[in-house]
Amino acid sequence: MPRAIAPLLLLALLAGGAAAGAATAVGASPSFGIKDDQLLLDGKPIQVISGSMHYFRIHPDLWEDRLARAVAMGINTVEVYTPWNMHEPYPGQYVWSGIADLERWMDLIQKSGLKVLLRPGPYICAEWDNGGFPHWFASSKVAGGRTMRMRTNDPLYLDHVDRWWAVLFSKLRRYLHENGGPILMVQIENEYGFCGEDKEYLRRLIDITRTHLSSDVLLFSTDPPGVASRGSIMGDELYTVVDFGPGWFDPSSAFAAQAAMNAPGKSPPFCSEFYTGWLTHWGEAMANTSSEVLFKDTQVLLEWANSTASLSFYMIHGGTNFGFWAGANVDGERYLPHITSYDYDAPISEAGDYCQPGIGGDCKYYVLRDLIAKHTGRSLPEPPPRPAIRSYGKVDVKESLPLMEAVPALFSGGGIRAEVPDIMEEYGQRWGLILYRTRLLAKALEKDGALDLGGAPHDYATVFVDGELAGRLDRSEPATNLTLRARHAQGKGKGNQIQLDILVEAMGRQNFGCDTGNWDWKGLTSQNVTLNGKRLRGWEVFPLQLDDVSDLAYASGQSGAALVSAARRRMLEVPAVGGKRNADAPAFFRGTFEVDAATAVRGPSGHLADTYLALHGWSKGIAWVNGFNLGWYWPRLGPQMTLYVPGPVLREGANEVVLLEVERAAHDEAVLLDDKPDFWGPAAWLRPGGPSAARRQALLRPRALGPRGASGSFDEGGLDYKLAKELETATWDVRRQAVTKHLELLYQASQSQSERNKVEQCECCNGSGEKECAWCHGTGAMTVGDMLYCSEGGCSPCPVCRGTGACKCEHCRGTGRRASWLPLAP
Ligand SMILES: *[C@@H]1O[C@H](CO)[C@@H](O)[C@H](O)[C@H]1NC(C)=O
Ligand SMILES: *[C@@H]1O[C@H](CO)[C@@H](O)[C@H](O)[C@H]1NC(C)=O
Ligand SMILES: *[C@@H]1O[C@H](CO)[C@@H](O)[C@H](O)[C@H]1NC(C)=O
Ligand SMILES: *[C@@H]1O[C@H](CO)[C@@H](O)[C@H](O)[C@H]1NC(C)=O
Ligand SMILES: *[C@@H]1O[C@H](CO)[C@@H](O)[C@H](O)[C@H]1NC(C)=O
Repeated sequence: MPRAIAPLLLLALLAGGAAAGAATAVGASPSFGIKDDQLLLDGKPIQVISGSMHYFRIHPDLWEDRLARAVAMGINTVEVYTPWNMHEPYPGQYVWSGIADLERWMDLIQKSGLKVLLRPGPYICAEWDNGGFPHWFASSKVAGGRTMRMRTNDPLYLDHVDRWWAVLFSKLRRYLHENGGPILMVQIENEYGFCGEDKEYLRRLIDITRTHLSSDVLLFSTDPPGVASRGSIMGDELYTVVDFGPGWFDPSSAFAAQAAMNAPGKSPPFCSEFYTGWLTHWGEAMANTSSEVLFKDTQVLLEWANSTASLSFYMIHGGTNFGFWAGANVDGERYLPHITSYDYDAPISEAGDYCQPGIGGDCKYYVLRDLIAKHTGRSLPEPPPRPAIRSYGKVDVKESLPLMEAVPALFSGGGIRAEVPDIMEEYGQRWGLILYRTRLLAKALEKDGALDLGGAPHDYATVFVDGELAGRLDRSEPATNLTLRARHAQGKGKGNQIQLDILVEAMGRQNFGCDTGNWDWKGLTSQNVTLNGKRLRGWEVFPLQLDDVSDLAYASGQSGAALVSAARRRMLEVPAVGGKRNADAPAFFRGTFEVDAATAVRGPSGHLADTYLALHGWSKGIAWVNGFNLGWYWPRLGPQMTLYVPGPVLREGANEVVLLEVERAAHDEAVLLDDKPDFWGPAAWLRPGGPSAARRQALLRPRALGPRGASGSFDEGGLDYKLAKELETATWDVRRQAVTKHLELLYQASQSQSERNKVEQCECCNGSGEKECAWCHGTGAMTVGDMLYCSEGGCSPCPVCRGTGACKCEHCRGTGRRASWLPLAP
């Protein structure tokens, strides 16, 4: 492919590098740039050996600990994403403290002697909620709202980016290498080639960066080789680099795709995401990637082209999706949230341990360390001691409070009145659960009735009639309806009314998306909720954001204890529903444990030893320790059965565990604080060689089994065998295979230009618009990046969303409204 030399390059050189050219003036100090297909730091060749670590996935008291471990593995650079949604939770309100203290992270990196590859997004993907975009993008009260087209030239979107980057870059400017800091270069967009090829959009992002950050800093783009020509700009405005995993590509073809985009002499080979492991969704077996291929290909890359190639391990240390930050993928109809652990099967484990404790396989850390030490000839510092991880024993969590009882405490002042239900984001809610309540005349349920939510709930709905569990609907199941039984209706309400409650739990927002159509909003997604075909109007809505449950649920003074015990009594009194106990209903469970100061074990950084909260026997929910949200647990699916509890969260003396169990409590109402992770839950059993049926049944029981039938009505231990059987029906295996297949196709198709051309002629796609065809929009013009977008069903971009009121695109909701700016803070 002939290579175009950007005329700007010449200008840039003439102007001493001050114009839009990508390279800084080489030789001047300090500088970072490119010459003769080599990266030069202050005029000297440098091979970047980088590792991705996300400060937002590591407890801030452990940042130094993790950096020290990474340094000892031999990296010289850290790749840093910045999640917009963590830093700007509400429009114009910024957070820069605790786990969001980006400047402290940069200071620590600099102190460690490491350099930085900065990846400000604004879209970061990263298996992170909404791919890093703020949830308030989905609110019509914010300029643009759902009509805004992210990752495009839409001026509304670019206005938001401009405003955000002005703030972000004002903090980061002093960390540029040219200003004596560690940042070597800055990434523009993120695998944008999967989504589009609008060079003007990329140029606008470049302009914003040049305006707010630096006119000189080297800018780069990252894409898989097959879509690099779409996601970057040919020539010198952007240094095009590629990403791929071990064994995915022949490096010569990958780096040739890179060179085809860069100006001559300006293409040092660079793999900016070299995958050490992989992500895992709930319901899949834990990622367990081949160490052998990783080692082999790492060596190949290190030695590539006379050691002029650079790489970044994605991840060197993955960390944890604490709180509600885990994202999700959507594969056709299937919604696939990520597990809470972001261990990633990376060389440094979630807990900062070496090798892959809990996962197995060869020890990636020491082998990579040896490779790097031999290759660079550097003598590396000794790895810090392994982290201290201890069992703190069994903890009873027998104090309980049904969620329905806690609603007034979690959302005071009564529900928001609404004629029809709307998505969570329209109420300014960020995450958690949302309760939609309406009242029906008693006669509406004289006979069984069909409730239809009008669309899949996002993501998990529990329905109650007069406080009794009527059923559940899961986003990933095709049904949006269920039968309300007449016998559930007690007609106890005012004027014989029946109370209908729909409680919707949000899980992570989709993190891979293009344009508006793919993004994810939460709660009831249709305003057309019907009973026997008749639309239900007149709702009360309770956004339950759950930012501070320990206080809200349990610290209500004298009434608190009474409330808890009354609620607990009620739970036991309420008759069984469908043969199951009412403990199935969502409820908080609370317990305490003591850490004895005299005997407590401490980790290398001086904090109390880490531990794992083992949730065997529980079903699905959210867990907190001392008010710190550890993330989602879902042992009914697995594979993750334990949640990582960083030591700094613990304290000497009394500690508190709170669970919000949304399905079914473990029958002994206890948890175990264990010294090892368990990634071997039900989903992993689908693997060949998994445990026997009898063993599975035993594994489903709580680890610390209480006396059977102690409370009178238990007849089964924890999750029953039926569930284990259901898992075997391979629903989840199908999920896993679908995702694996999808990734295979994705990368096969992007592997080379010729293969891509072949797929472009895919007959099934040509003009048919067939939804089954994953590869096109019905245009016949297959593009790899459109795949997810297309399989969503809403394939064509929304043409007339804004200002006309005439848009038929469901994502615009026909409002055509360009609402004025309204801050959404709660
Ligand atoms: C690699 O480096 C050596 C020594 O600097 C040089 O002789 C050789 O030509 C280089 N090879 C390539 C392919 O650049
Ligand atoms: C991962 O693979 C290794 C073999 O490479 C095996 O020993 C280990 O048990 C596997 N772990 C899991 C969780 O599947
Ligand atoms: C629920 O919807 C499915 C198809 O979407 C339909 O076959 C079924 O009859 C409906 N059930 C009820 C109770 O309306
Ligand atoms: C609402 O849903 C009902 C039943 O599913 C359907 O018959 C009706 O057409 C829908 N109304 C609107 C406005 O979508
Ligand atoms: C695709 O459709 C166009 C127009 O209908 C047709 O001319 C062309 O031959 C088709 N291509 C293939 C590969 O079927």
